[in-house]
Amino acid sequence: MEYPMTTKAFHLAIAREELQGAATAILPGDPGRVPKIAEYMDNPLELHANREFNLMLASLDSQPVCICSTGIGGPSTAIAIEELAMMGVKKFLRVGTTGAIQPHIEPGNLIISTGAVRMEGTSRHIAPLEFPAVADYRMIESLVQTAKKLGYTYHTGITASSDTFYQGQNRSDSYNKGFVIKQFKDKITELEYLNVLSYEMEAATVLTQTAAYGLQGACILGVIVNRTGQETPSGSVIQEAQEAAIRTAVESLRQP
Ligand code: URA
Repeated sequence: MEYPMTTKAFHLAIAREELQGAATAILPGDPGRVPKIAEYMDNPLELHANREFNLMLASLDSQPVCICSTGIGGPSTAIAIEELAMMGVKKFLRVGTTGAIQPHIEPGNLIISTGAVRMEGTSRHIAPLEFPAVADYRMIESLVQTAKKLGYTYHTGITASSDTFYQGQNRSDSYNKGFVIKQFKDKITELEYLNVLSYEMEAATVLTQTAAYGLQGACILGVIVNRTGQETPSGSVIQEAQEAAIRTAVESLRQP
């Protein structure tokens, strides 16, 4: 179903007419990153902020583009995509951060996800586990060409999406002294052997939902920590990685 022009979406709390025909959405997790993304675009306009969903509209090559934060994790991400799709959005680009699990990937590098391991729960409400969480090939290609043009070091491959930052990502610095249930014991080693590049929390939802709905979806992630040597992200590399991911995301959406 699609929303009529003037009906307000239940969670995003804007009406379709406010998107001015935007067919593309950039999806950061953090509401605070929305105005930062808009700085790289033209005619920024604040739309509405409700819960974790902060929405702005801006233009790229004279085309309207929506920027909408998803909050952390699958459930709120799925709500954002559902309601934006019902307001006419067809292309979804997640821009976020990630923790690398391959030794050769350095903090500050970019990861362009070609697909995601569906370790989270939300995507299972949308399509059965046999269904692949895969990115749109045109968006991957555009992100790769843009990262090259901007001179960033990037890696393409599979991202693992977890519902938890601590247990599901095998962190030992948790309240419960690093205890994880059997299902997650040494999962990080298994994923490393399977050539999975990194952990984050939303890609599987974005890629499953967009693929299942016949929409376009992709993810560009800035690496803020390498888990083979460190548990907790630190320092200025977080800003650098975020900026690299944002610049690449925005530029990749310009007309060729
Ligand atoms: N986001 C995650 O989910 N994990 C990390 O290690 C870094 C960012």
